[in-house]
Amino acid sequence: MHKRHLIALAAAAVTSVTLFGNALAQSDTVKIGVILPMTGQQASTGRQIDAAIKLWVAQNGNKVAGKKVEVIVKDDGSLPDATRRLAQELVVNDKVVALAGFGITPSAMVTAPIATQSKTPMVVMAAATSAITEASPYVVRTSFTLPQASVALAEWANKNNVKKVVSLVADYGPGYDAEKFFTDRITLNSGQVMEKLRTPMRAPDFAPVLQKVRDAKPDALFVFLPSGQGAAFMKQFGERGLDKAGIRLIATGDVTDDDQLNDMGEVAMGVVSSHHYSAAHPTPANKKFVDAFVAAHKFRPNFMAVGGYDGMRVIYKALEASKGAGGDALLAGMKGQIFESPRGQVLIDAQTRDIVQDIYIRKVEKKDGQLWNIEFDSVKAVKDPGKLK
Ligand code: PHB
Repeated sequence: MHKRHLIALAAAAVTSVTLFGNALAQSDTVKIGVILPMTGQQASTGRQIDAAIKLWVAQNGNKVAGKKVEVIVKDDGSLPDATRRLAQELVVNDKVVALAGFGITPSAMVTAPIATQSKTPMVVMAAATSAITEASPYVVRTSFTLPQASVALAEWANKNNVKKVVSLVADYGPGYDAEKFFTDRITLNSGQVMEKLRTPMRAPDFAPVLQKVRDAKPDALFVFLPSGQGAAFMKQFGERGLDKAGIRLIATGDVTDDDQLNDMGEVAMGVVSSHHYSAAHPTPANKKFVDAFVAAHKFRPNFMAVGGYDGMRVIYKALEASKGAGGDALLAGMKGQIFESPRGQVLIDAQTRDIVQDIYIRKVEKKDGQLWNIEFDSVKAVKDPGKLK
């Protein structure tokens, strides 16, 4: 009896040592689960954000609040079913304290319920449909929203005698936001949207819509296409002679994307766009960011890279505040952060968990033999107009 009791005690002791050991090992490391499109149509977004995360860690170290930070990057090929499966694995098996990345809106949307159920903060570094932050109270966004960019551009158009416009957007969430907010604002100010055209999100063919634009003869064509499609679109716009036909191209900065801009050639010159980030943003903080990024990765950072870099900042500072804890404590540390990003001053609105930032109006110009989006006007501290509905 006595012996059996001793054996049981010893077994319990071993179990508790093992449990205690595991708990210690676990609490020594905090894991961040990043899901990105590293392959497929949106691969440039994955490449940009992955590079920015690596730069952040190289500059800021892999220790926060006395714990080792481990970043796990998974490739979802921008397929939402893969995003959902990877998010589940990262939460259940890897026990990540935060999810991050999300190259396209559908990937962010399918992950939102997982974030809610597991109380895991989810930092959206790329996707930009307004409604994403409303899909879960655990979503925090460091990218931008299409309403932010589109309203600012519509106001510029109104002030610059652009009256008749055709709109062309990718046929999914961010495209609908761009179309609606651009149209509503320009018509409010007595402009006119003659036609609303949409192209498929995957493998778009621009030929049929460009023909329609030619026939409509607007003052300008307004375009939103997701990062990665800009160069192909611009080439066809030029090949079909729309620029020569006197149709002005205006776009969200996703089209004059710094990832591809330098290869777009003459047709891109003079294109006016609106966005939250240009690699040419003239501040010391941005110059430092661009120089370090180019030195490390040998390519120019675009707006996706800045969303990733700032997303890491938001996670690191929140981990400091929560002393490495996840869940609601980590989420609380993300809300209300104010800091100088390479894009300028930003705020993570504590109420909406969305980013408040300046939106710049830019024009493509050649400087030192390279094409850049040169900022010439700005709208300060823009809250997502999608939340003011
Ligand atoms: C999106 O799917 O939300 C998205 C993707 C690429 C962009 C903008 C928005 O450039």
